[in-house]
Amino acid sequence: MLFAVCTVLWSLLQSTSAHLSEDDATLRTPEIITKYGYPFESHQVVTSDGYILTHHRIPSNSTKKAPIILHHGLLGSSAYWILRQPKSLGFMLSDAGYDVWLLNNRGNEYCERHSHYNPQRDRRSFWNFSWHEIGVHDLPETIDYILNVTGSKSLYHLGHSQGTTVLLVMLSERPEYNSKVKMHIGYAPVAYHKHTTSFMFRALAPIEAVGGLSALKLFLGEFNFAPSTEMLRQLVSSSCKDNDKTQFLCSNIFYMTMGFNPKQMNTSMLPTIYGHFPVGSSTKQLAHYIQEMNSGRFRKFDYYLFENLKRYSQISPPDYKLDNVKIPFYDFHGGKDALAQPPDVLRLHGNLPNLKKSFYIPDWAHMDFIYGIDAEKEIYSKTFDILNGLI
Ligand SMILES: *[C@@H]1O[C@H](CO)[C@@H](O)[C@H](O)[C@H]1NC(C)=O
Ligand SMILES: *[C@@H]1O[C@H](CO)[C@@H](O)[C@H](O)[C@H]1NC(C)=O
Ligand SMILES: *[C@@H]1O[C@H](CO)[C@@H](O)[C@H](O)[C@H]1NC(C)=O
Ligand SMILES: *[C@@H]1O[C@H](CO)[C@@H](O)[C@H](O)[C@H]1NC(C)=O
Repeated sequence: MLFAVCTVLWSLLQSTSAHLSEDDATLRTPEIITKYGYPFESHQVVTSDGYILTHHRIPSNSTKKAPIILHHGLLGSSAYWILRQPKSLGFMLSDAGYDVWLLNNRGNEYCERHSHYNPQRDRRSFWNFSWHEIGVHDLPETIDYILNVTGSKSLYHLGHSQGTTVLLVMLSERPEYNSKVKMHIGYAPVAYHKHTTSFMFRALAPIEAVGGLSALKLFLGEFNFAPSTEMLRQLVSSSCKDNDKTQFLCSNIFYMTMGFNPKQMNTSMLPTIYGHFPVGSSTKQLAHYIQEMNSGRFRKFDYYLFENLKRYSQISPPDYKLDNVKIPFYDFHGGKDALAQPPDVLRLHGNLPNLKKSFYIPDWAHMDFIYGIDAEKEIYSKTFDILNGLI
């Protein structure tokens, strides 16, 4: 965080003129899809607890293939899947005839809306959610919407990082959705979080352990810990350009939070990556993951003693019921991933009733599955084999 602030100040001081240029860093998901010549639709889903979500779709004419959801991780958005020129997974799936749905979660730049709360004025209520609520509301209610619009009986779900977390929460809490999802493919899947090495999480873990985050919350309430204004994104993004003195900061912040693997890092993508990241998440999402580091469990949000008793009728929060996850589960995970460390992923495997196959890439870090130079060769081709029933 400190580095991020420094980066911004530095570029302010240098008064690098943050020109509005029409590149993928400044364009938003709808314009990028259109720019590369694909059909585009925007779909609004209002959740039963009032959040107004805007999802992005690359529709297909083919009626033979089921819809596929691509689900971003913490602090991300629908843009994740279309930034990797020349080959982005969103476009490759569309080329293959899939009906591609790029989801956005409550709170990110496309979903900062609610039917009664204003994200700024009513921030304690608006930002009062973790990934639990995304798994219990956003995902299942969006699945119903998509199946209704397309007339399909079921769909595929592919998620990165928190994308897997919310799928598991959904199936644990609402197991009737097993029949609506054909399979899950997880890239850098996160459920257990004990071995995380990410600087951002490690720094906050001791504070949470002594109840510090909850104490802080009494004063600060809930808020968006990664507010994304156009100006801020422009500044950070333009300070990540090639040959810029500040570029090493951009890549190092990335390595410190995501894991160190410069071999897969295409530095000319950094301005684009930071143009779409981070774009909004609640403090409670972060706090929930930090609780998991400290508890070593995959379980519901810890409200502490009395509140837990009231909500859950027990002193500590209940575990998510991975036994309920009946759909075929595939994943790709990396040895240098700061956020989905191999021991945590293997523990998840041990608790899944229907693990089909896992691909382990020893050198890979968290975001290589989205932006890595070899993503196409290493994982997209295998992803197609999985979807085609060849693996
Ligand atoms: C869908 O069909 C229309 C006409 O039938 C065609 O113009 C369009 O390119 C098709 N779109 C895709 C994504 O195949
Ligand atoms: C936050 O949500 C919980 C339900 O999960 C509710 O009990 C609580 O009153 C909410 N707080 C605010 C400030 O809206
Ligand atoms: C399904 O679509 C119909 C017609 O568009 C609509 O009336 C109905 O409310 C939809 N149901 C859901 C669950 O979205
Ligand atoms: C790196 O990113 C740039 C900009 O998106 C792209 O043109 C180039 O093909 C990428 N290089 C590799 C090796 O993927």
